[in-house]
Amino acid sequence: MLREQYGTARAISSATRARWWTSPKSDLILAVDLEERYSFVSSRIRDLLGYRPEDLLGNKIDDLKDHSSELVTLYRDVVSGKQLFAACEYGARHHDGSWRTMRASASRLFDAKGNLSGAIISVRDISIEKKLEQQIIQSERMAAMGQMIGGFAHELNNPLTAILGVSELLQDEGASEATKKQLSMLQQQARRAAEIVQNLMYFSRPPAPGKSRLNLGELVDRTLHLHAYSLRKSNITVDFLSESGLPPVVGDPHQLMQVFLNLILNAEQAIREARDRGTIRVRLGHTDDSVWATFQDDGPGIAPEILPNIFDPFYTTKRPGRGTGLGLSICKAVLKEYEGNIEGASAPGGGAVFTVMLPIASGGTAVAAEGTATPSS
Ligand SMILES: Nc1ncnc2c1ncn2[C@@H]1O[C@H](COP(=O)(O)OP(=O)(O)O)[C@@H](O)[C@H]1O
Ligand SMILES: [Mg+2]
Repeated sequence: MLREQYGTARAISSATRARWWTSPKSDLILAVDLEERYSFVSSRIRDLLGYRPEDLLGNKIDDLKDHSSELVTLYRDVVSGKQLFAACEYGARHHDGSWRTMRASASRLFDAKGNLSGAIISVRDISIEKKLEQQIIQSERMAAMGQMIGGFAHELNNPLTAILGVSELLQDEGASEATKKQLSMLQQQARRAAEIVQNLMYFSRPPAPGKSRLNLGELVDRTLHLHAYSLRKSNITVDFLSESGLPPVVGDPHQLMQVFLNLILNAEQAIREARDRGTIRVRLGHTDDSVWATFQDDGPGIAPEILPNIFDPFYTTKRPGRGTGLGLSICKAVLKEYEGNIEGASAPGGGAVFTVMLPIASGGTAVAAEGTATPSS
């Protein structure tokens, strides 16, 4: 049987053989006879799909457990003369069980006497190209979305400014207590909307940052102080400890404070969701090449199944109105800008822990200003 199959392959004219068999190393060559059985399989199949040629030889191509139907259609189109030369993409299963995307081109095959004897198909693995293509499509989609959002945000800014201005005016114009209360609610909500708009604008077009050398410990401390009132109101204690003599990092102080504020806000929201008091533990230190800051809370923590998504823009588990899902994606974008990184994980004792890392500024010795442990609440 095997001998017979090889016989068919031998019948292919030597000129054709020379052309096909020596085609680029990356192509797998298949010959399929008129009974739709593999009559030749090049050894490249080992690299591409983990099989030996013998595993396929003599088998019918419409045995579909290892590849999708496009390959069969391709063969039939070519052999029937519907197309003289054709190509398709199809899925093929690797010996290890995983599916790959392949591109096949086929043409008719004739024996020495010039009679049609089947089709010859050259195949290459395009899985990686396909993945890259999808990634490009995805990132272009994101860019387009960013532009659109930037536009909306600008449009929304004007009416919001008007709402805020007019409601302030009305409040000054001797309104009754009840009306004043309602006006203040109106303002509060409009301010919230304005904040969301600000975040969206930031997300779609991050401001040109001013870079300077910074002491991260000082910056975190300042952010904690800015937010101290709200934390106190939520019965949240801050346990802050920074290594003394932290080396400097480079960044825009406002952007980095925004990063820390986002992390603190998330921690606060997480704690409040789970209990009526809690602790945020903040630590700073450095390695040979970077300065790190960790923010650990004793809230409910992050479920492992959502962990891969939390840095995605618009991903939120908070109910509508509470979360925009932009906080962590902004953190990621800011840190990327300074060649740093941020990671989130579940803390060993429950709760969540976020680690921010930034490279030490070149020529970075300790920043003169403090850095010693200062409890901050
Ligand atoms: N400290 C935390 N504890 C638990 N979950 C968190 C914490 N920080 C972030 N998350 C999760 O990550 C999601 C995304 O956070 P973020 O990007 O800041 O958006 P938002 O806070 O608007 O939901 C949150 O909705 C929440 O599910
Ligand atoms: Mg948030």
